Amino acid sequence: MKDHYWRAISIDSIDPEYFPSIPLFMKSAGNYVLYKDAQRKFSSSDRSRMERNGIEFMYVRSGDMEELSAYMEKGLDELLNNDDLDSARKGKILYQTSINYLVDAFEAPEQAANLERCRQLVRHLMHYVAGDEHALHSFQGVVAHNLYIYAHSVQVTALNLLAHEKLFQVDPDELVDVGVGSMLHDYGMIFVTNEILNKPDALSDVEYYKIKQHTQKGYEFLMDSHHFSDVSLTIVRHHHERYDGNGYPTGLKGDNIPRSAQLSALCDMYSALTLDRVYRKAVPHQEAVRMMREESGKAFNQQLLEHFIELVSDRKE
Ligand SMILES: [Fe+2]
Repeated sequence: MKDHYWRAISIDSIDPEYFPSIPLFMKSAGNYVLYKDAQRKFSSSDRSRMERNGIEFMYVRSGDMEELSAYMEKGLDELLNNDDLDSARKGKILYQTSINYLVDAFEAPEQAANLERCRQLVRHLMHYVAGDEHALHSFQGVVAHNLYIYAHSVQVTALNLLAHEKLFQVDPDELVDVGVGSMLHDYGMIFVTNEILNKPDALSDVEYYKIKQHTQKGYEFLMDSHHFSDVSLTIVRHHHERYDGNGYPTGLKGDNIPRSAQLSALCDMYSALTLDRVYRKAVPHQEAVRMMREESGKAFNQQLLEHFIELVSDRKE
């Protein structure tokens, strides 16, 4: 009898002020056990208890997710303007909210077309990333634990907003489109089986071919919904092109590759290297930079790469 499934919520993102009255569960010996019912609030002493016991996640029934997402998304404006909360905690709550959106979008495709929800989240991410010197740094600290594609999508969004804003002073309307495209850049992965996505060893030619199709398939699916701008769709379609023309899906070369796609490719590689994967640990910042420089003039425009490195290195100090 399984009429619902479970969604993990990081403890750090549960703040009594920004969390609705829904039941929370803990996982114990493989079972989900009620920790608190809808009536009781999750307090800071609950959080301390979890921290002492090394527990990072609580669980919510899928049926309660709609209420949770609506509540958290509604509270974001207030949260970001609340001076009593530090930047790291804001980042954690914003991050969990974005993850909730992405999981919905990947699990229920009609959610991806809920453009207004996506745009709101991107606006909040922009506000957060641009509004605080340490925001991106805090944000990167948040991104380590979750399911890979979701965590990766949120990180690419934050980096890409920053890169477009700082390197090209892109106007706010276009920035929102960049953010939406970044959130959904790997959307086509919903057409690839988990067996292939989570495979720890080398992929066969056929499997690699299927993975590569995520760009074109994601692009076609989102384009058919008629909700997305050209800038957003360009990022989804072209984020795996390479400067030397050996990328996919179209093999565009050099600066024929749209700027937003070139920046997305940089953010994509940096994020892929600096996040934990099922089959390998995250690479430290300096090592990631070294590996990206090996692709100078090959995967990336040399100048753009150096500007990007400067940008992410700045924020690391
Ligand atoms: Fe991708």
